[in-house]
Amino acid sequence: MTVTPVDEIIAARADLTREQLIPLLQEIQEHEGCVSPAAMLQVAQALETPVSRVYGVATFYNQFRFAPLNEHVIEVCRGTACHVKQSLTLAQHLRRRLKLRADGNSADGRYTVVTVACLGACSIAPVIKLDGEFSGHLTVEKLDTLLDEVEAGAAAAA
Ligand code: FES
Repeated sequence: MTVTPVDEIIAARADLTREQLIPLLQEIQEHEGCVSPAAMLQVAQALETPVSRVYGVATFYNQFRFAPLNEHVIEVCRGTACHVKQSLTLAQHLRRRLKLRADGNSADGRYTVVTVACLGACSIAPVIKLDGEFSGHLTVEKLDTLLDEVEAGAAAAA
């Protein structure tokens, strides 16, 4: 039987109890980039609890992802200041342009878009973070320019 990284994370925890469900899921996501259905099943078996409970907890908290992050990660702020400055328009534009699936990953497998409550840069709303870099006072046109630069960089590197 193959020992998976998730098996190792579970095995490393002494005195495993159901109270450790959330920290366990956090550690798995930190290591694996997401909490996969297989990982949820392993956790359920280890905690001797129904997988539906693990799934219920994991989906209740929006900190958990169920698909791995792609090469480029875009965090779209949906906090109040950004909302007032039309961040929804930016999110909708990204969904159309990148053909996002329900899990936030683009159809071409290159981008992941996640929404966050506040990026802590309200004075330059609306804000996104693209691969860790802040971009503020965004418009759809500026967003397209940023994405075009990413594409140009990828083309130059190919
Ligand atoms: S609400 Fe968007 S950075 Fe604070």
